[in-house]
Amino acid sequence: MNASSPEHSGEHTGFECHVLTLFPEFFTSPLEVSILGRALNRDDVRVEVHNIRDHAEGRHKITDDNPYGGGAGMVMKPEPVVRCMEAVEQDCVQRGGTKPHRVALTPAGAPFNQAAAERLSKLPSLTLVCGRYEGFDERVMDYIDEELSLGDFVLTGGEPAALTILDAVIRLRPGVLGNAMSSVDESFGESGLLEYPQYTRPVSFRGAEVPPILRSGDHGRVAKWRRGQALLRTVQRRPELLEDFPWSPQDRKLLQAAQQEQQALNCHQEIDLGSNDERPVEEES
Ligand SMILES: C[S@@+](CC[C@H](N)C(=O)[O-])C[C@H]1O[C@@H](n2cnc3c(N)ncnc32)[C@H](O)[C@@H]1O
Repeated sequence: MNASSPEHSGEHTGFECHVLTLFPEFFTSPLEVSILGRALNRDDVRVEVHNIRDHAEGRHKITDDNPYGGGAGMVMKPEPVVRCMEAVEQDCVQRGGTKPHRVALTPAGAPFNQAAAERLSKLPSLTLVCGRYEGFDERVMDYIDEELSLGDFVLTGGEPAALTILDAVIRLRPGVLGNAMSSVDESFGESGLLEYPQYTRPVSFRGAEVPPILRSGDHGRVAKWRRGQALLRTVQRRPELLEDFPWSPQDRKLLQAAQQEQQALNCHQEIDLGSNDERPVEEES
């Protein structure tokens, strides 16, 4: 696996990501499994995890200190973080690579989304800097290209955010997903819609059936059904995604058909429930 130490040599033409953290061990297992693990076994995708503490000074390698102005918690000192970023970059450049794009994970950053994942996946190299404690000394941001947030909540550290970003970005690299279309057709992809509902075997699960159209073998009808379902799901769950949606007459028809199908199904289920209610109550013995 190339996802641990920065000890390597030679130019790298694919995608490389450097994660700067006080807890390198956080990344060991997640970077070894499944699609991410397989991607990191390839030559063109590399993740290196660097310990910020290695760049702290003194016998105790202190990386945090009290906040000026008082207040709870500790603040990450700027020197170890910036020195760590610079050491990584020096190494990249010496190997003939490019300076990585520097991203700090902070709750105050721009929300990370699929468009950001697409954009970052096209870069040759990336640095993700993970904060801890009460966050970074603000002067670290002078050395950062952008701040990204995972959402409107506070994590104990930037590591889960970095891991999430790594996953979302690496799966978009060419050849990482088995089927090249899998990332095109899905939620937040080119269609601008949430993905349609998916089914697999068995045909019937506790009374819930796979929609017959998906078993029809008629690819044209399946594609239309899926489009209608994706439209319905997006209208119902994330209408704000459709603000600038280029509605076509065909899409409106497919949405209407999906709405009617849903109403019919709900009606059918109500009748089923109703008939259950009418079942004679068994007498207690
Ligand atoms: C406890 S948090 C610091 C929160 C900070 N005091 C605040 O209120 O904004 C410690 C670190 O976790 C990371 N973190 C927390 N929430 C995050 C989020 N929503 N997105 C990205 N990183 C986050 C950042 O790296 C941050 O420096």
